[in-house]
Amino acid sequence: YSKNSTHDIKEIVKKGHCKYYSNQARSLILGIETSCDDTGCAIVDNNGTILGEALKSQQQIHLNYGGIIPPIARDLHKESIENVVNEALKAADISVSDVDAIATTVKPGLPLSLLVGMNYGKYLSHISRKPFIPIHHMEAHALTIRMVQKVEFPFLVLLISGGHCLLAVAQTVDKFLLLGQSLDDAPGEAFDKAARRLKLRNLPEFRTLSGGQAIELAASKSTNPGAFYFPSILSHYRDCNFSVAGLKNTLRKHIIRQELLHGIEGDGLIPGVFNLCADYQMAITRHICQRLQRAMKFVEIRNLLPEENRTLVVSGGVACNGFIKRALGLICEEMEYSLAVPPPHLCTDNGVMIAWNGMERWKAQCGITLDLDSVDIEPKCSFGVNWIDEVTNASIKCSWIKLTSLQETRKQETASSTV
Ligand code: KG4
Ligand code: ZN
Repeated sequence: YSKNSTHDIKEIVKKGHCKYYSNQARSLILGIETSCDDTGCAIVDNNGTILGEALKSQQQIHLNYGGIIPPIARDLHKESIENVVNEALKAADISVSDVDAIATTVKPGLPLSLLVGMNYGKYLSHISRKPFIPIHHMEAHALTIRMVQKVEFPFLVLLISGGHCLLAVAQTVDKFLLLGQSLDDAPGEAFDKAARRLKLRNLPEFRTLSGGQAIELAASKSTNPGAFYFPSILSHYRDCNFSVAGLKNTLRKHIIRQELLHGIEGDGLIPGVFNLCADYQMAITRHICQRLQRAMKFVEIRNLLPEENRTLVVSGGVACNGFIKRALGLICEEMEYSLAVPPPHLCTDNGVMIAWNGMERWKAQCGITLDLDSVDIEPKCSFGVNWIDEVTNASIKCSWIKLTSLQETRKQETASSTV
């Protein structure tokens, strides 16, 4: 691994296409991301042009271990950080003294991983005498969309990733109203654990995929969606919190029953694995959509977004999922929202989103510091102002928008592809 690391990074370095700016002052922010298992760095300008970026993913190594082992993640970040930053600077054809500030993720995330990025970011800030901008990883996911398309504040944002599930109203660069959050596993985590338990990795086609990608691909091969029952979750709680642990448990029971029924042992996969993935994906999707629908009603009652221009932004790794995006599209259509999702490589963790959040803060001149000692990591931290009680007290009843048409399209797709 270490022998090839520089080479691997080079392969994924992308050089940005610099636009021509008349006499407009241009600022540049360098961003660093190491909160989990991706070492990322990018340089962006005030117009959202990516001048250079580099990303070193640890995904394959953690897939081989069956999960992220924090000291291993730390060691891999340490091994890559310098190369990743240098490659991003090289692609941008600048040196660190050319940037206006250094933005780095300091919260939330794995403590050992966060430390590597923060220390390197502080080091760059120190040697170049440029200000430091501490970044909240989830705020960065929430604001990425503004780099690629025109989305004005306020907007509703759904963040679905490997570590988090959050629903919030984004009001400004640093003001969010938290409407709902996960009570147990995040959706990405629920997909990762399911993919492992289903042993999808034993099929060559799935070996290099993240759990979420594996479940999505497996689900697309289902010939009989609806074969496995999954209950409706939190249906008696009139809030917007998320819980997928019950669905994970139901999945486990289905697997055990099928394994017993078909005498499956060791590395074997159950025969209905694709159908089970489709129903599991549908159950998680339905749950997310229901919580979202209530949040949209709450937004309407409390008049939190302008009536004529309501946008739902979705980001985080799980926002790469095409099925979930289609479902969210249906909800938006019905509730008269426009749906805005960044391209997949900006939904999963990357340095660009950190640089862009730094740029948003640079433009607003908030959260920028020269006092490096005042900054520390915060592995666990809140997101925005907690409005969860407000949502609960509103006790909003909903009649659910049907998602069955999604399965019908899939049945048709399967039928036509077999003709
Ligand atoms: O945002 P992210 O890169 O890291 C965190 O901040 O957690 O999200 C990673 C998560 C993983 O759990 C992965 O399984 C999930 O995103 N993911 C997906 C898909 N691609 C990645 N989940 C569902 N469908 C996908 N296509
Ligand atoms: Zn993330």
